[in-house]
Amino acid sequence: MKLWVPSDAAAKACGAEPLVAAIAAQAAVRGQQIEICRNGSRGMVWLEPLVEVETEAGRVGFGPMTVADVPALFDDPERHPKALGLVEEIPFFKRQTRLTFARCGQIEPLSLDQYQAAGGWEGLRKALAMAPASVVEEITASGLRGRGGAGFPTGIKWRTVLEAEAPQKYIVCNVDEGDSGSFADRMLIEGDPFCLIEGMAIAGHAVGATQGYIYIRSEYPDCVRVMRKAIALAETAGLLAEAGFALEVRVGAGAYVCGEETAMLNSIEGKRGTVRPKPPLPALEGLFGHPTVVNNLLSLAAVPWIMAHGGQAYQRFGIDRSRGTIPLQVGGNVKYGGLFETGFGITLGELVVGVCGGTASGRPVKAVQVGGPLGAYHPQADFDLPFCYELFAGQGGLVGHAGLVVHDDSADMLQLARFAMEFCAVESCGTCTPCRIGAVRGVETLDRIAAGDATALPLLDDLCDTMKYGSLCALGGFTPYPVQSAIRHFPQDFPVAREAAE
Ligand SMILES: Cc1cc2nc3c(=O)[nH]c(=O)nc-3n(C[C@H](O)[C@H](O)[C@H](O)COP(=O)(O)O)c2cc1C
Repeated sequence: MKLWVPSDAAAKACGAEPLVAAIAAQAAVRGQQIEICRNGSRGMVWLEPLVEVETEAGRVGFGPMTVADVPALFDDPERHPKALGLVEEIPFFKRQTRLTFARCGQIEPLSLDQYQAAGGWEGLRKALAMAPASVVEEITASGLRGRGGAGFPTGIKWRTVLEAEAPQKYIVCNVDEGDSGSFADRMLIEGDPFCLIEGMAIAGHAVGATQGYIYIRSEYPDCVRVMRKAIALAETAGLLAEAGFALEVRVGAGAYVCGEETAMLNSIEGKRGTVRPKPPLPALEGLFGHPTVVNNLLSLAAVPWIMAHGGQAYQRFGIDRSRGTIPLQVGGNVKYGGLFETGFGITLGELVVGVCGGTASGRPVKAVQVGGPLGAYHPQADFDLPFCYELFAGQGGLVGHAGLVVHDDSADMLQLARFAMEFCAVESCGTCTPCRIGAVRGVETLDRIAAGDATALPLLDDLCDTMKYGSLCALGGFTPYPVQSAIRHFPQDFPVAREAAE
């Protein structure tokens, strides 16, 4: 029997390690030969640890598995109470369009053979045979926009770095992934790390950079270990030398603001992680003062597929100016939480209710925060909103890194708004006064509102405007969005706002 048990941190958190030990022990007791392979996660987190057993028809899933469920796996798998049928037929999985995450969960993350057999290096091979400018054109044609939050067109960023004349250029991959609800960067590295190496090597060839850095948050120790191992394997196999590219992992120290690209560059340089004014753009004066491509992991991991299949093929997915697929990550109070990769255009309601089954508590959905701690709280009235950068912005929100946190009707939106302000106060790097001081005053003002002080409401509005327009980066600039959306959509939770409306 050949089994697959994820080594992904989410599966481990749900008990994958004792499960593997129990499976091995059970096989030994029965004198049965088995092979246990460790894959990444399929992204169906509510089923973790998800055990897969290879059959002639395909891989059959069992989950969420516990140690107590192991003996039955050896007795009669077909009648196992946790049997799920073919993994790729599970509706949550089947409804997806997996381009970036195509291999994640399918292969052993550190197997170069399996990576190659599943289409790995095809994009890099094609790119290396092309002139750098043509690679940039292909990325531009794909319509790929930065998946880290701002949605900036990746092709334009790459062209700026390509055209900059400098003796040294860099590719920096942003895996700071601090947004609430998001985990796609971690899952990709823990499930398919060579995909990121391939994407970064393509970016290096496209812009003329010979060195790359992967900045990973310290809260992701498994991710750091897998990435370092993958780089070492690619080096030993001569793959990086062939591409003329070197790679190094740098580990953050636990500051949200270090996900902001200029603070991250400071952090990599060994400096304190505070934001730099722009201009100069990192594309022209980035890491150590040299032209630098800073991209989110999901942007870079989309690149191998684009190069292998062509920019036109990628841009056929999606709507309006939001092209390709988006790996949506759904967490919080949700029945079927996990990673769902699909073309832009799926609506918020279709995702949260149709795909993810609504709340885990079974109560009505009250609000969904999209795009991390700086994203707006969306009410059910927004459920027809399609995932699209411009349409979300038009609704006072953002797609961001596409992390969603679902809340049921027991959520207190005043407290959630207060949390947003408090988060900003704690995480502010202190460079801009409206962010550093404004967030502290924001918490105090929300406390006055909670105490029924009606004079505090217009103050909060003024304060939010000052923060929006007076902060260099989106930490201070976007914190007002969750606060103002909470007041706008849920006035019943703000006693003085309700009175004003009546
Ligand atoms: C406070 C703050 C935190 C951020 N955190 C992240 C992060 O964790 N990961 C990320 O890729 N981008 C993050 N960003 C966005 C980056 O500054 C930058 O836009 C992005 O890495 C560029 O890559 P992309 O074009 O591929 O999205 C953050 C921005 C701000 C203002």
